[in-house]
Amino acid sequence: MDRIAITGGAPLRGTIPIYGAKNSALKLQAAALLSADPLILENMPDLADTRFMAQLLASLGVEITWIKETRTLRMHAAEISSTIAPYDQVRKMRASFNVLGPLLARVGHATVSLPGGCAIGARPVDLHLKAFEAMGADIVIEQGYVKAAALRGLKGAEIEFPFVSVGATEHAMLAATLAHGETVLKNVAREPEIIDLADCLNAMGARIEGAGTGEIHIRGVTSLKGATHSVVADRIEAGTFALAAAAAGGNVLLQGARFDHLQALIKVLRGAGVEVDAEARGLRVKRNGGRIQPVSFETEPFPGFPTDLQAQAMALLCLAEGQSRIRETIFENRFMHAPELARLGAQIAVHGNEAVVTGVEALKGAPVMATDLRASVSLVIAGLAAEGETVVNRVYHLDRGFEKLEPKLAACGAQIQRLKVEQ
Ligand code: UD1
Repeated sequence: MDRIAITGGAPLRGTIPIYGAKNSALKLQAAALLSADPLILENMPDLADTRFMAQLLASLGVEITWIKETRTLRMHAAEISSTIAPYDQVRKMRASFNVLGPLLARVGHATVSLPGGCAIGARPVDLHLKAFEAMGADIVIEQGYVKAAALRGLKGAEIEFPFVSVGATEHAMLAATLAHGETVLKNVAREPEIIDLADCLNAMGARIEGAGTGEIHIRGVTSLKGATHSVVADRIEAGTFALAAAAAGGNVLLQGARFDHLQALIKVLRGAGVEVDAEARGLRVKRNGGRIQPVSFETEPFPGFPTDLQAQAMALLCLAEGQSRIRETIFENRFMHAPELARLGAQIAVHGNEAVVTGVEALKGAPVMATDLRASVSLVIAGLAAEGETVVNRVYHLDRGFEKLEPKLAACGAQIQRLKVEQ
C-alpha cells in the first residue's frame, strides 16, 4: 500500500486546476442507464471511484469509452444485458447502489446488493427504497439484496423526505424521469450536484424543475435521448486545496472553483483570518503570516458547511490561536481523523458529535494512518503545515476521491511525494 511523505513548512504558491466533481460524476454515470443513446460526460475526474462505476456499468451492458486527453467519458447503454449489481461491487462503493433506480425505470426490475456498513456511520438506504415504493415498485430484501420490480413502469408520486438526503434526492430524480405522470419531491437536498444532475437529465430530454430549491417537480417522459454534459467543478476538491493553502500559507489560485458553491467554507476561512477572493478564473486564497483565528461551525446540508470538508477544516483549526468547536450533524462517527491529528500534536477533545479543538502554535510531523477519504486528506493538510516529516499510511482512500493530489500540491512548492510500496 502506497504512502505519502510530506516535509512541512513550505508555503503554497501557484495555480491548481479543479477537476469535475466526483460526487456528481458518479450519479451522472448512473444516468447513462436511462437512455439507449450515448451519454457523453466532459470534465470527468479520473478516480478509483469513477473507474469503478464505469466497470459496474460495463457489467450491466454499457459500452464505455474513456478519452484520457480530453477527460471525456462516453457511455452507451444501447441494451441492458444484466440488471444485477452484486455484493462485491456495491460493497466497495456506496454510490454504485444508484444503478437501482435507473434500471428499475428503464427495464422494470433490478437486483442490487445493499451497500452495507461504512466507516463513517450506518448510512442506510431506507429513504431511497421508500421513494421507489411510493412510485409503485415492489421491493423485497433477501439475503442482503434489494429486489425491486415495477413491471408496468414506475408511477409519478408525491414524496416528502423526513430529512435531507443527497443520495435519495438524486436517486428518486433519476428514477422519476421515466415514470408515468408527475413526481413531486419535497424536503430535498439542494447541493450543486443536484442541479448538475438535473441539468444533464434535462439535456437528455427529462422535464425537471426546481433543482437547487427544497422542492423538485419531475414530469415523466417515455424515453430519454443522448446528450453531452460537462461535470460541475468539485467544490470539495477546491475547498480542500483552499484549506491546504490556508494551513501552509501562501497564495494559490484555484482555477475553475466556484465562489457560489463554497460560501459556507469561505465564511469559515475569512473568520480564521484567511483572504479569499473570487476572480474571473476561480478563487484566490492567501495567507501570509499571522496566526489562524479560531472559528466554530457545524456541518449542514448545502448551503451549510459540507461534512466532506469538516476533517480538512479541523486540520486548519488545530493551528488556531484559541478554541474552536465543530459539530458534525450529518454523519455519526466522523471524527476518526481526530486521534491521528493528535499524533501530530493537535489538541482535540471529542464529545459525541462535537469536537473541541484547542489550537497549538505548531504541529510536529509523525507517521499517521488514513481512515477514510476526507480524513486522509486532512492529515495531508496537517502534514503540509507541520514541522518535519509526516508519513500518511494507507493512502488508497485518497485515490478514491482526489486525482493528482501530490503533483498538484508539489507544483505549488509543497514537499510531498508518494512512496510506492509493491504489494
Ligand atoms: C453524499 C456524498 C457524501 C456526502 C453526503 C452528505 C456522494 C457519492 N456522496 O452521500 O460524500 O458526505 O452526501 O453531503 O455523493 N440517510 C438515511 N437513509 C437514507 C439515506 C441517507 O438515514 O436512505 C442518512 C445518512 O446515513 C446520513 C444522512 O442521511 O446520516 C445524509 O446522507 P446523504 O445525504 O444521503 O449522503 P450520501 O448521499 O450517502
